[in-house]
Amino acid sequence: MIERVDTHLAGFLDRRALPSKLDSAIRYSLLGGGKRIRPALAWYSSVACGTPGENSLEAGAAVEMIHAFSLIHDDLPALDNDDLRRGRPTLHIHAGEAMAILAGDALLSMAYESTHEHPDPEIALRLSKELASGTRAMIEGQIFDTLGGLPDGIGEIEGVELIHRNKTGALLRASCRMGAVAAHADDRALDLLTAFSESIGLQFQIIDDLLDVEGSSQTVGKALGKDAAAGKRTYPEVVGVEESRRVAQRLGSKASEALNELDTLGLGDTRPLRLLGDMLTHREA
Ligand code: IPE
Ligand code: IPE
Ligand code: MG
Ligand code: MG
Ligand code: MG
Repeated sequence: MIERVDTHLAGFLDRRALPSKLDSAIRYSLLGGGKRIRPALAWYSSVACGTPGENSLEAGAAVEMIHAFSLIHDDLPALDNDDLRRGRPTLHIHAGEAMAILAGDALLSMAYESTHEHPDPEIALRLSKELASGTRAMIEGQIFDTLGGLPDGIGEIEGVELIHRNKTGALLRASCRMGAVAAHADDRALDLLTAFSESIGLQFQIIDDLLDVEGSSQTVGKALGKDAAAGKRTYPEVVGVEESRRVAQRLGSKASEALNELDTLGLGDTRPLRLLGDMLTHREA
């Protein structure tokens, strides 16, 4: 699956024939060793709805482009000011800040070229709408995370949950929903995959926070301990490491329950998606 996604992404860029500096910068970030969790979620959501994973390629590639854009901008000096990503210099260190800003802009635009490459125009439109609302929510989360401004009177845990559901959960949610849309899923299947993705999405950022506290920089490929240094609102900071681990486990079980229900619809094979969910619960990178 990952090889198929990578070939698709490389072919997509070949067809654009971008100016060479922009092309190199985008390839550095987009083809530079991400785990491809979002295209995998789209692919296996499509399989869980009974259609080939191939149907999700345009959708998965589009979310991966938004993800790459979000990371490039997240690492900029004005946001998290990070020098290391995936074990390599971040794009603004590698190619300069102007290129990092512009490559992110280009990826954001090209993501919609990808959704519109879906052969069925009605599905393409629905994919674009899902991607637009997911991306907007991701940016809302980045605003809360970076600039604050959470709703008045919101509790500490509710606040961090709102940040996490938006800045990270929204794109994981979009990935699963877009995989389901590409598979012509009905509302019931879409709702269950949404429930799965919302648990996995919140869990994903809780584990990212935990890895920032207690992971290995070598394995994670990022500088660690940055959240505390930057005074970020994270799960371990708000509820402690032990409770964060328990919440992550609980969310893993909740995700799996949504798939149990999906199984009762008898649409497709949910096992690969379940396996991916379990991998995410136990990930160390
Ligand atoms: C990292 O996402 C940023 C977060 C949303 C926590 P990933 O851990 O999926 O990053 P890559 O693509 O595998 O590097
Ligand atoms: C990432 O959150 C969220 C987005 C990029 C949208 P983090 O800032 O915690 O991600 P890392 O730790 O830099 O990968
Ligand atoms: Mg950040
Ligand atoms: Mg960051
Ligand atoms: Mg982080």
